[in-house]
Amino acid sequence: MKESLEIEGLKGEQTLMGEIPVYGSKNAALIAFPMTLLFKGPVQIINVPEIEDVHRIIELMKSLGISVEQTKKHEYRVEVSETTSHTLDSSVVGKIRASVFLAIPLLARFGEVVLPHPGGDNIGPRPIDLFIEGLEKMGATCDTQKDHYHIQTPSGKLKGAEIFLKIQSVGATQSLMLAAVLAEGTTVIKNAAMEPEIVSIAEYLVANGADIKGIGTTTLTIKGTGLLESKQPYRVIPDRLEAGTFLILGVLSGKDITITDCDPSHIEVLTDVLKRNTTSEITIKKDTIRVENKEPLKVQPINIRTHEYPGFASDLQPPLVVLLTQAGGKSLVFETIFEERFSYTGNLVQMGAKIVTYDPHRVRVHGKTPLKGSVVSSPDIRAGLAYVLAAIVAEGTSVIHNVYCIDRGYEQIEERLRALGVTIQRT
Ligand code: EPU
Repeated sequence: MKESLEIEGLKGEQTLMGEIPVYGSKNAALIAFPMTLLFKGPVQIINVPEIEDVHRIIELMKSLGISVEQTKKHEYRVEVSETTSHTLDSSVVGKIRASVFLAIPLLARFGEVVLPHPGGDNIGPRPIDLFIEGLEKMGATCDTQKDHYHIQTPSGKLKGAEIFLKIQSVGATQSLMLAAVLAEGTTVIKNAAMEPEIVSIAEYLVANGADIKGIGTTTLTIKGTGLLESKQPYRVIPDRLEAGTFLILGVLSGKDITITDCDPSHIEVLTDVLKRNTTSEITIKKDTIRVENKEPLKVQPINIRTHEYPGFASDLQPPLVVLLTQAGGKSLVFETIFEERFSYTGNLVQMGAKIVTYDPHRVRVHGKTPLKGSVVSSPDIRAGLAYVLAAIVAEGTSVIHNVYCIDRGYEQIEERLRALGVTIQRT
């Protein structure tokens, strides 16, 4: 269904008030479901965001014969049977990159997987060479065909190995960590990513019998233990990217808003940047962040480069750029993770922003420019929500097409924004 969001802008004023809750993390949920392949009995997953990407991974698991039952809203019970199919459905794999995360534990458990080339966002090439190299080190063989990979473990089991990731990849770290739990022997993953979603999954695995050392560091040492038994539900951690985006919204347009149900320790770099460079008052408690604008907002120009965690998240780069259009001066944004993550800036320019692109990785934002309502189409999840922020800041009405992209990552976004006083409707 082709749906759009229509938003009435606030003309650069800070008027929003109230509370906005953060839901479970998309990216943690997208590895939590594949993680269930490491368990011999059922696993309960709670605080699951009801969003398109999560529903697609569930659809994919069901198509393999895995039992995934929704026990209530935001809660699922997953049980993997020994007759699970090893061939992933290309129509779903083409839509979400997280399909790869499922393929790796499938291989580790059943010794074989057929993986069509994965899809995902329009944010640049998304190769899977690190996954393949890691698996080959663990003894797998990969037959690459025009439209799929056929990966097998000749002896039925992966073997422990020392793997150095040439890029600190989130997906490769977490998938190979899952594989290593089912492998024979010890696996060492060096230059591992340290994102909170990986830490949370690793801690859950350890609490349920896995042997993983170095959690939250760049070297993970995993002793293969075989199938685990779940002793308690896995609770999906709060989405730090939602929290960060709502925080930027609060700075841009909030009079007094509180972001609830979040983990502020996961977005320290952002709160630090905002405290240093804006006039907003930001009060951090254990699981809430309050943003107040007691005077008209002033933002200083900011030079920032995206970085692996705990650095500035690439996923928060688009909403930050919206903020920088309101900064008094020139800011430089250096996107180091993805190659095509500035394609959304064209539409911001159409809305009145002054953004000069130096190369695929660097833009200069000249502020402060008023934004005006416009008709735009969302290219990816994070850029989609950045447009929502821009539309709220702008003068006049904006229409954002391709809401599917926003629904992929954010549950009930318009209800949550409406509660703060945003005039927003789905058409
Ligand atoms: N890369 C390779 N080869 C690989 C794997 C990755 O070259 O085999 C490159 C990528 O092309 C990219 C860099 O390594 O340039 C980092 O990619 P990474 O593997 O860390 O990203 P990912 O696991 O594909 C996850 C999130 C992204 C988030 C990135 C970076 C999920 C489902 N996705 O992607 O989230 O931007 O980490 O933090 O966890 C989003 O939520 O909108 C989103 C895109």
